[in-house]
Amino acid sequence: MSANQTQPSATYDSAFLKACRREPVPHTPVWFMRQAGRSLPEYRKVREGIPMLESCMRPELVTEITLQPVRRHGVDAAIYFSDIVVPLKAIGIDLDIKPGVGPVVERPIRTRADLAQLRDLTPEDVSYVTEAIGLLTRELGSTPLIGFAGAPFTLASYLVEGGPSRTYENAKAMMYGDPELWADLLDRLADITAAFLKVQIEAGASAVQLFDSWAGALAPVDYRRSVLPASAKVFQAVADHGVPRIHFGVGTGELLGLMGEAGADVVGVDWRVPLDEAARRVGPGKALQGNLDPTVLFASTAAVEAKTREVLDSAAGLEGHVFNLGHGVMPATDPDALTRLVDYVHTRTAR
Ligand code: CP3
Repeated sequence: MSANQTQPSATYDSAFLKACRREPVPHTPVWFMRQAGRSLPEYRKVREGIPMLESCMRPELVTEITLQPVRRHGVDAAIYFSDIVVPLKAIGIDLDIKPGVGPVVERPIRTRADLAQLRDLTPEDVSYVTEAIGLLTRELGSTPLIGFAGAPFTLASYLVEGGPSRTYENAKAMMYGDPELWADLLDRLADITAAFLKVQIEAGASAVQLFDSWAGALAPVDYRRSVLPASAKVFQAVADHGVPRIHFGVGTGELLGLMGEAGADVVGVDWRVPLDEAARRVGPGKALQGNLDPTVLFASTAAVEAKTREVLDSAAGLEGHVFNLGHGVMPATDPDALTRLVDYVHTRTAR
């Protein structure tokens, strides 16, 4: 069953989904990666005393947090409040999200025997996701909900390193030194990720984003050989679900073509490559998402507007453009600057 046929037509006809499909839009749609989270006082209030992973398992809380930026900023899409490590936790991996650090894995995956930690994900493992998305789609009306997952490489980077890393030395040691083990690890992660995205789409998500946040650490030749097959498997698995598939990473200027090739309908671009140049690298037939530098939001309103005009100007010839930041909202960002930015993009691009 295609999700297109099950969602209300007002959602299907939203500016966000039209832009993803490269159809004409009434205005350029805007949403922000990490729009739900620490930049909002109302988020900090409802999260008080509740650990991050626990908050992801409470459907009412997930619903409230997901809706907060939609109410406050008037963004064109909601993103499901969760984390990339939630499906790994759900299959029993011993991990936690440490405040100010990120995901930490108790027993890193370094050997073939360690692969036994990874079993398939079933919808029952994440029944709270199905429940929360049911609540959310009722509240959201015509605003589309974006589901998401971590891509196999980015998940593997946490699982093999045991936590955040700058160099990915253990992950790369496996990738270069034991390519078979690496391929098997990424293949298992692809199955888990695909199953997790399917749960979200079947529950009512109107689009999905695959976060390969750390893929920019790889040379194109290694990405193509050792990472692209697993990400392509994820995109292929949801290809017949009828929802746009967004593929995002940071520092991926040299990988943009390959990230499109992996099977995305929309390629996310960070702030390092202007969108017109990104379109040349990605090639025809795909929309782009991005790409204001998130630190620009710490500058004056006039400076934010000037940098936003640069993004919009370089997007002028694109087949489809979803306005976003080049990476997530930083926690110290003034929420009012985000609201002003949404208004500015909407007003400036109204057709
Ligand atoms: O609004 C949204 O975008 C949805 C929420 C969301 C979270 N994590 C919530 C979260 C999304 C899309 C993610 C994805 C995610 N998680 C990624 C890919 C996106 C990216 O930024 O590149 C990655 C790499 C992670 C792993 C992770 N989880 C990190 C690096 C951190 C930050 C650690 C810290 O405290 O600085 C987390 C924790 C996390 N995930 C928080 C939130 C709101 C902060 C925890 C908190 O609020 O207590």
